[in-house]
Amino acid sequence: MNTLTVDLGNRSYPIQIGQGLLDQADLLAKHISGRQVMVVSNTTVAPLYLDRVLPSLAGLQTATVILPDGEQYKTLDTLNTIFTALLEQRFNRGCTLVALGGGVVGDITGFAAASYQRGVAFLQVPTTLLAQVDSSVGGKTGVNHALGKNMIGAFHQPGCVIIDTDTLDTLDDRQLAAGLAEVIKYGLIYDADFFTWLETNVTALMARDKTALATAIGRSCAIKAEIVAADERESGMRALLNLGHTFGHAIETGTGYGNWLHGEAVAAGMLMAADLSARHGWLDSADVQRTESILRQAGLPTEPPDTMSEQQFMDLMAVDKKVVDGGLRLVLLKRIGEAIVTADFQPDLLSETLTATASA
Ligand code: NAD
Ligand code: GLY
Repeated sequence: MNTLTVDLGNRSYPIQIGQGLLDQADLLAKHISGRQVMVVSNTTVAPLYLDRVLPSLAGLQTATVILPDGEQYKTLDTLNTIFTALLEQRFNRGCTLVALGGGVVGDITGFAAASYQRGVAFLQVPTTLLAQVDSSVGGKTGVNHALGKNMIGAFHQPGCVIIDTDTLDTLDDRQLAAGLAEVIKYGLIYDADFFTWLETNVTALMARDKTALATAIGRSCAIKAEIVAADERESGMRALLNLGHTFGHAIETGTGYGNWLHGEAVAAGMLMAADLSARHGWLDSADVQRTESILRQAGLPTEPPDTMSEQQFMDLMAVDKKVVDGGLRLVLLKRIGEAIVTADFQPDLLSETLTATASA
């Protein structure tokens, strides 16, 4: 087992990564302080893994909430079903919520924990690659609004993250690829050597080579932990984790939540960011090619949906959380392994990127 730490002083917590961790009952149990535990999962993940988690909670007052599956259910209405279950079962402030599932379950459960009785404990047990390398770490929680992705939420850190890499055995290839988009992101923004390693190992990762996956998950979590420890509330460098996300969130909202997977939208968005960086003369064309090539090899989209126009992108990107005083800020690449957050991009070049990649 590989144990990392998200170093946040007295709110520090471990990320435990390994095979078969769901069967190690004490891993979860030792992070539960009160007597009441609610496991939140969904209709796909619960039949696969809930019975593996419940024995860890023996002796406690345990309840479960099974949510409908899908990004389209990452809403205030779904959140309310968790609050209703907590209140009906008289859960008090000492309770702990456990998120068992992908990023959707993790984000909703985290937000329920952030707001129930003004904040209760929660633990993350992520079961998709995307959730294991990104969403379960760092305490961003929330739900979508019809007008914008992840627009309602809170920062609320989990008490631990338990990553059983064997859960990826049941994940389909499209979801695995979506998780790889976020892994590739870490190489692009932070670690050129890791990006080179990913270029060599992308085929092994797609073939679910366990050693390669463990390395990729470990390095991704280590980078995320380092960035979150340095800038928990995103006043600076944490925004780099949003490479491709301003374009990607516009794609997810514009196409209707759930049609493009988050990781797919981020992949197309990262290439749009690379294209715009090259138009500013920062990234050379060989590095744009490398970015496109690795995304293609991972089976990810490299173009936005042809149904979206430049105007639609501009309208949707205007509600991005990085907008300050009405000004759009974008994460762009200086080179592979180095990114910046900037409002100092040329609007005409953004327009060129959007017309070159988006339709009419
Ligand atoms: P997801 O939660 O929808 O999971 C993808 C699909 O895989 C779902 O159908 C799910 O039921 C299924 N699934 C989960 N685990 C499985 C398993 N082991 N075997 C078989 N099927 C399984 O999507 P996701 O990609 O995990 O997460 C995307 C969400 O995460 C988005 O809402 C995105 O905004 C959010 N996100 C949050 C952060 C953050 O920092 N909080 C970071 C990145 C993404
Ligand atoms: N996924 C972006 C962040 O955690 O900041």
